[in-house]
Amino acid sequence: MTGVTERVITEEPRARGIARVLVDERTLQERIAALARELDAYYGEDTPLLIGVLNGAVTFMTDLMRAMTIPLNIDFMAVSSYGQSTKTSGVVRILKDLNEEIEGRRVLVVEDIVDSGLTLNYLLDHLRRRNPAEIRVVALLKKDKADAAAVQVDQIGFAIPDEFVVGYGLDYAGAYRNLPYVAVLDESCLPAA
Ligand code: IMP
Ligand code: MG
Repeated sequence: MTGVTERVITEEPRARGIARVLVDERTLQERIAALARELDAYYGEDTPLLIGVLNGAVTFMTDLMRAMTIPLNIDFMAVSSYGQSTKTSGVVRILKDLNEEIEGRRVLVVEDIVDSGLTLNYLLDHLRRRNPAEIRVVALLKKDKADAAAVQVDQIGFAIPDEFVVGYGLDYAGAYRNLPYVAVLDESCLPAA
C-alpha cells in the first residue's frame, strides 16, 4: 500500500483514527482465495458446517464461504469480547449459541483473530462436548505472542505483530468493522494502557 493510497483511504469518515494499513484489501482477498482452495480440497465431497464467531468473523466468513466451491452449511456463535477495552478479560460468555446440531458433523470454526487464545480455547471445549466428527479452525489473523495459550489453529491467514488492529470485521469500541482492510489505530485514539 503506497503512502498516497493510504492518505486517500484515511480521508474516509470510517477510517478516522487509522494510523496505517497492515493488510490491504487485495492481499486479504488473495489469501482468502488460497485458504478456500485448500478447504475445497480438504473436504472434497463432504459438506462441512462453517461456524462463524460473531461479530468479528462476519466479513471473513462471508468472503471465505463465497470463495469455496463445495457445498457447505453455516451457523454462527456469539461470544463476549473486550467490550470497550483492548485487552482480553479472560472471561468468555456465550451470547448466542448454535442453531444446528453438530454431532457427527465436520465442523470448521471461522475466527477473525487469535490473540491470547482464551476465547478460542473456551469455544473449542464447548463444541467438543457435542461430539462433532471433526473440528478444524481457520483464523484470518494470529498475533505473534510469546505468552499466548496453546490453541488449535489449523489454518492461519496472516501472522501479525502483537498490536491492536481494526477493520475487516474487527472493531475498537464497536467502530471500524466496515473497513475493507486490516489497520492499526493511531495510539492517541486508544486509552492509556
Ligand atoms: P483472545 O481471547 O485474546 O484470543 O481474543 C479473542 C477475541 O478478541 C477475538 O476473536 C477478537 O474478537 C478480539 N480481539 C483480539 N485481538 C484483537 C485486536 O487486535 N483487535 C480487535 N479485536 C481483537
Ligand atoms: Mg472473534
